[in-house]
Amino acid sequence: MENRPQWGTRAGFVLAAIGSAVGLGNIWRFPAVAYDNGGGAFFFPYLFALLTAGIPLLILEFTLGHKYKGSSPLTFARLNRKFEWLGWWQVAISFVISTYYPIIVAWALSYSWFSVNLSWGNDPGKFLMVDYLKRAPNPGEFIGLVPGVFIPLLIVWAVTLGVLFKGVKKGIEAANKFMLPTLIVLFLIIVLRAITLDGAAVGLDAFFKPDWKEIANPKVWVAAYGQIFFSLSVGFAIMLTYSSYLPKKTDLTNNAFITGFANSGFELLAGIGVFAVLGFMAQQQGVPVSEVVDSGIGLAFVVFPQIINEFPAFPEFFGFLFFFCLVLAGLTSLISIVETYVAGVQEKFNVSRTKAVAIGGGASFLVSVLYATNGGLYLLDSVDNFINHFGIVIAGLAEVVLVAWVAKELSTLQSHANAISDIRIGGWWKVALGVITPLVLGYMTVQNFITNLKDNYGDYPTSFLLFAGWGVAIAVVVVGFVFMSLKWGKNKLEVPDTREVS
Ligand code: ALA
Repeated sequence: MENRPQWGTRAGFVLAAIGSAVGLGNIWRFPAVAYDNGGGAFFFPYLFALLTAGIPLLILEFTLGHKYKGSSPLTFARLNRKFEWLGWWQVAISFVISTYYPIIVAWALSYSWFSVNLSWGNDPGKFLMVDYLKRAPNPGEFIGLVPGVFIPLLIVWAVTLGVLFKGVKKGIEAANKFMLPTLIVLFLIIVLRAITLDGAAVGLDAFFKPDWKEIANPKVWVAAYGQIFFSLSVGFAIMLTYSSYLPKKTDLTNNAFITGFANSGFELLAGIGVFAVLGFMAQQQGVPVSEVVDSGIGLAFVVFPQIINEFPAFPEFFGFLFFFCLVLAGLTSLISIVETYVAGVQEKFNVSRTKAVAIGGGASFLVSVLYATNGGLYLLDSVDNFINHFGIVIAGLAEVVLVAWVAKELSTLQSHANAISDIRIGGWWKVALGVITPLVLGYMTVQNFITNLKDNYGDYPTSFLLFAGWGVAIAVVVVGFVFMSLKWGKNKLEVPDTREVS
């Protein structure tokens, strides 16, 4: 049997899994999603989504990876040769994400540098679009490369691929052991400062104040499930790949609970930090918090620089800390996203790790350059929307339906996990994966189609969405079937013995 790399320690694996989960989604997406969807009342659907989909799926992916000992394509092919396309589909989704995710990390790297002398000046919105991104007037125009984005992009790729070249233990594990604790310490400094600012209480009140009638709104539940998926890195091959490097004797369910709760804990911390500073800014400007709140790019690269400008002391230092935290959170997630196809390519084409990193990472780097052009922002916005709504969600749905209903594997996987784990999973796990998750994801998929077919996303022209949205979502499925049609090496599909040695 092949010589598969392994994590050095249990803590190393858990840190890498948390490093993957804690990413840009936690810092810039969660606070605004929670606020827009009922504030304090959002925690109820969010917790429900975590317990009925997030953690059950995490346990499922950890168990699949551990039992079948392969990247996502190899794992699904070993489960049933006919399921291999799902593994490639998930890997292709990760590939697409890995083409735009490093761009955001690159922006954060630039902004860490800009913090040193607050280069964004008094109008951070104009600075971002005009001076920094040099945004083209219309979507679909790629006039030229923006060196200010391209250079940090090169650095982000050099670090990511450098870590991956070094392998699972010496590269991924070592990087996470350093980056994740650093991120947590730096982020805690920011949050502690944030909650002691004037007006912080007003922001926190806006964040936590429950709007209970929102609970009855299906949109809020859809938002909760969507947030959990992207944030926990489930549904796009990552956790499955990481758990395939676990030793025979290990724990699966307890690790899934630790990862799930750590990720949500960080998310909550980010919400507190973000809303405390939003409260501060609202107070400075004499306006309600609702007028200063924003999400995504607007929150991180426009609202935050405005807040940093008004910081009572050491604005440069806190600006640097915030953007550097984004860089660290982004890097640990990006490493895990790229690892999915490094492992897939390595196994299917029987090439060395070095070659797989060079081919996979090199291809993704080349595509990512498109986003470092003047038209990059439109492209990023559209691809991110479509790959989330028509990639991750539907691939997650396909995963639970195939495993629970077509292969009827849940009982076998439950026994596998229970034989080696501290926490024994029971009937709730099967109900969550076999019934609740497919129903919610099915509903989400229908809603996503209705919304995106009714109105063009972001009011972009249809011609643009056909290639930068629908085209990408369809291409990742096609890739799944194309790669599945290629042959595996001899004996590759044999399932290795991963029963517990007692
Ligand atoms: N889980 C990663 C994030 O939240 C992808 O950004």
